[in-house]
Amino acid sequence: MSEHFSEIYSRRLRRRTLLKLSASSGAAMMLVPTLASGSAQAAQPQFQSLKPRLTDDHAVVSGYSASVLIGWGDGLDGSPAPSFPLSAQEQRARFGFNNDFIAYTPIEGSRRGFLGVNHEYPMGHLMFPGYRTLEHAKRNVSLAQAQSEMAAVGHSVIEIVRTPQGNWTVVPESTFARRIDATTPMNVDGPARGNRLLRTAADPSGTRILGTTACCAGGKTPWGTVLIAEENVGDYFYNPGNRSSNDLSVDNPADIFRQWAAQDPRFDLSHEPNELNRFGWIIEYDPRLPAEMPVKHTALGRFEHEGAAVTCSAGEPLVVYMGDDDENEFIYRFVSADNYEPELGKANSALFARGTLYCARFDDDGGGRWLPMQYGKPPLTADAGFLDPGDVVIHARKAARLLGATPMDRPEGIAISPTSGAVYAALTKNKKKDGNNAANPRRVNAGGHIIELLPSSKGGSADHAADTFTWEILLQGGDPQAQGDSQGIYGKPPPQNSWLTNPDNLVCDPQGRLWIATDGMDDFGRADGLWCTAVSGSERATPRQLFQCPRGAELCGPEFTPDGESLFVAVQHPGKESGSTFSTPSTRWPDFDKDTPPRSAVLAITRSGSGPIGG
Ligand code: FEO
Ligand code: CA
Ligand code: CA
Ligand code: CA
Repeated sequence: MSEHFSEIYSRRLRRRTLLKLSASSGAAMMLVPTLASGSAQAAQPQFQSLKPRLTDDHAVVSGYSASVLIGWGDGLDGSPAPSFPLSAQEQRARFGFNNDFIAYTPIEGSRRGFLGVNHEYPMGHLMFPGYRTLEHAKRNVSLAQAQSEMAAVGHSVIEIVRTPQGNWTVVPESTFARRIDATTPMNVDGPARGNRLLRTAADPSGTRILGTTACCAGGKTPWGTVLIAEENVGDYFYNPGNRSSNDLSVDNPADIFRQWAAQDPRFDLSHEPNELNRFGWIIEYDPRLPAEMPVKHTALGRFEHEGAAVTCSAGEPLVVYMGDDDENEFIYRFVSADNYEPELGKANSALFARGTLYCARFDDDGGGRWLPMQYGKPPLTADAGFLDPGDVVIHARKAARLLGATPMDRPEGIAISPTSGAVYAALTKNKKKDGNNAANPRRVNAGGHIIELLPSSKGGSADHAADTFTWEILLQGGDPQAQGDSQGIYGKPPPQNSWLTNPDNLVCDPQGRLWIATDGMDDFGRADGLWCTAVSGSERATPRQLFQCPRGAELCGPEFTPDGESLFVAVQHPGKESGSTFSTPSTRWPDFDKDTPPRSAVLAITRSGSGPIGG
């Protein structure tokens, strides 16, 4: 049994009292994980942790199997990839590059469903021969290769089925299989629909956007639709003269002319200054309706969206938690104006069009407040350049900064416990700190940390729409033997010395355990992977490693089937290491074929026998 909300809540109250006492006595604030003293039996991972290793293959704990379901270049019908490199025409109908978020949508429970998978960004030096580095490829890829890149990003929908033998396979002739890429037409709703800052020469109405890119993580709704988060969208734009006043980072200085702008001038900000405002949103689409246009929901704000964690109960507003993955940026929450009504099914998508966006303030005493970002209320007025509600969501970062949101150490994945209602947020790292605060306590944060937020209580349950919450740090990434600022802090030392750093994607399993996928452990001489920890009981904040990536890869996705017996993971950018290229990669995972470059791929993890993943 998992810890109930009321037990966490009372533990947190005791914790806050201790913090206040230590603050008033002048003692340093100790942000170490607290152990639950609740009576409930905590859900703990039931497997031996992997030992950390850095190799060119993946690994999974014994008693489990991890097999490739689909990888870059494979057909959406499961057919194998042609020889590489891929032309734009070949890429267009095939599984994209750098798989990230995974959404499983049931067709028949946990045996047949849709798998929606994001494709985050192209890496020309691992997609095509002749480029030394990613930057070299960005400057030099041919127009034909730029077209192939534009077809390799976005999202794939495939239909998958679990055979009677227990293996997952791609359904060969699914009518639902489709690609969404950098050119797919999208609708727009919410306060920025038609806003002057969204209008372009090709779309004078500001209501029809072509495509998506930088599709990082995402989310799912109870009515069966999928959310896609647009993250590092500035990376695709050419910005001569650094002329943009846009508040999303355009990573390309003027001298890096990514060839997308040559292919399509809307990616040149000197030609089309508003095009960048049309990216950086949360998108919703329906895997059951391949012909239906995806929608960019502007009420959820525009920033470098990592993902979107949705929660709602019948008769209550829809709530979405979101991180903005950049140094010293913020955590946000959207609360819909109207209530979720399960019997309305997909009509509930209208909830995304109207509501209030909030940014988070983490107070040093362990309390916190959601600050409403309402147009017309100071400071979000014309004096600060906000002329209407659309301007507030388009320039959400500026609005949140003016309101006093707390700068964070790169907010990535957010997960909501289905058993307790607690919310977990990954802060992956921050090497460009802009001051310190208790929620981001390291002076330089190389290893990242995870914060546990507890919404205020209503009727003994978490009230996700409440304006206040309490928080504490669940764990701090790093080696527990390290000294000072870089020390890892856990409930107990991780078994097999398999400590983690740089938490990125988070998910809670049906038992309420927290699964942590990492991105960046190569900085520590280790491979990224997937860990599981209890969040209550004696093993709170004591991660065990289930899966290890091949070298150069980060782990994305983790997604369970509803029964918890299958787990899908996305291995992204295997072989992304210094000196590793298309022709001389550091690994040729997963094919290990001399003519095939490393390929990002989705794996299905199942147990020998049956039972939930993690025990
Ligand atoms: Fe796309 Fe923040 O990882
Ligand atoms: Ca990534
Ligand atoms: Ca991520
Ligand atoms: Ca990351």
